[in-house]
Amino acid sequence: MLLDRDDWYGVAHDLEWSLSYVEHEDAFPDAWTGSNGIPREAWRAWEEPFRVSYRDYVAVQREKEAGVAGVRDALKRSRVYQNLHPSFAAVSHLHMGATCMIEQMAVMMLGRFARFAPSPRWRNISVFGMLDEIRHAQLDLLFSHDLLKYDSRFDWCQKAFHSNEWAIIAIRSFCDDWMLDTNCIDAALAVNLTFEHGFTNMQFVALAADAMEAGDVGFSNLLSSIQTDEARHAQQGFPTLEVLMKHDPERAQRVLDVSFWRSFRLFQAMTGPAMDYYTPLDRRTMSFKEFMLEWVVDQHERTLRDYGLKRPWYWDTFLQSLEHGHHALHLGMWFWRPTLFWKPSAGVSKVERRWLNDKYPSWEDSWGVLWDEIIQNVNHGRMAQTLPETLPALCNLTQLPIGTHLDRHHLECVTREHHGRMYYFDSEVSKWCFEQEPERYAGHLNVVDRFVAGLIQPADLSGVLQWMGLTPDVMGDDAVDYSWARDYLPDAQSAG
Ligand SMILES: [Fe+2]
Ligand SMILES: [Fe+2]
Repeated sequence: MLLDRDDWYGVAHDLEWSLSYVEHEDAFPDAWTGSNGIPREAWRAWEEPFRVSYRDYVAVQREKEAGVAGVRDALKRSRVYQNLHPSFAAVSHLHMGATCMIEQMAVMMLGRFARFAPSPRWRNISVFGMLDEIRHAQLDLLFSHDLLKYDSRFDWCQKAFHSNEWAIIAIRSFCDDWMLDTNCIDAALAVNLTFEHGFTNMQFVALAADAMEAGDVGFSNLLSSIQTDEARHAQQGFPTLEVLMKHDPERAQRVLDVSFWRSFRLFQAMTGPAMDYYTPLDRRTMSFKEFMLEWVVDQHERTLRDYGLKRPWYWDTFLQSLEHGHHALHLGMWFWRPTLFWKPSAGVSKVERRWLNDKYPSWEDSWGVLWDEIIQNVNHGRMAQTLPETLPALCNLTQLPIGTHLDRHHLECVTREHHGRMYYFDSEVSKWCFEQEPERYAGHLNVVDRFVAGLIQPADLSGVLQWMGLTPDVMGDDAVDYSWARDYLPDAQSAG
């Protein structure tokens, strides 16, 4: 007779036994579990946020896979990709290059939970999370492989994380740190609860909606299929936070505050430009700021309140940065476009500019004047002046350009000396993150540090591009060949 799940689940999910050949502390070292000072019994309170058996899991995942496979077949027969707006194609290049290996790193992180998490229930459900992440990485590779014949940029789905491209270094810096090199408890808070539960909604829900609108049905389906898994396994951060709150609430606050800021800065670079500049105007569903407020800010505040935590001390700075930071990053990324493996869309035609001013009332004051300069140069054929000759200063924590977290009038470079070396930061918040655990970050050389140290040769922009692995076939240029700038010619019939 086949037992019902409820008849056996209680025994199966709590699978643990007393070790007799090794000490418990040797099999589950604090360095891996992160359980420093939290008594072993405390983890009995760790309740699964969802119940799943292997049989149920496989049945549901099989359905999802069948759905994705159907879309993939239809895509191969149709000409969806060839007809896709070039600036939206850039979104898919950026997404594939930036996220495929994050999924793969998540496989390793969840594999570590499955072995070292301090609760048997947690170890049990992490196996499912690990299987999820294998699926995600493989789906990205599969879709990118299908599209490789149209654009060699899809090669970067696999290649990006093995290169020194600066934006990828910024992402890798976060992921190496929090996914690969952090104990189970801190990783569950930083990655599951903050990065996945909060921020991946941006990439997977918002971009999926935009992708559907923009006619990229395959990409939209892929994102949605992945998000259903993320929404489930991201839940494991909550019971972990609950246990930690009883034993070390200060640590919980610190880990969440550091990871929230670091996640936010990354999404400002990755998702902000994709939503507010690359997605064709008539296909946009919400601005980056609106989406952040609805899906990330509300949710994060609720979580903090529910568990008795405070808002991060930098909340006002965060809200100001939400208004400005991704515009600064977008402008910088467009200007340094040869250093990207996708073609950024400027997204500042007259009608797009009205949308930006409508969504961000201070946009014109901060960024309009800089774009006007670029527009003048483009329209007078002075292209060399729209291109970089040097590198921007980079933050030693976020690895992002300094001067990209607030508006144009508040460019700041924050410094701090540590063991005789001067470190540079994009904000007081990034400096504060560094100061929480200086040894965690000290010693790393960012791209500019390496350039100055003579590790990149020849020591000019061409040497940097070569070092980043950027070949002419993928190197970024304006997505629509500067056609938007013609809007500003004196005799232009503006579309807007
Ligand atoms: Fe994933
Ligand atoms: Fe995930």
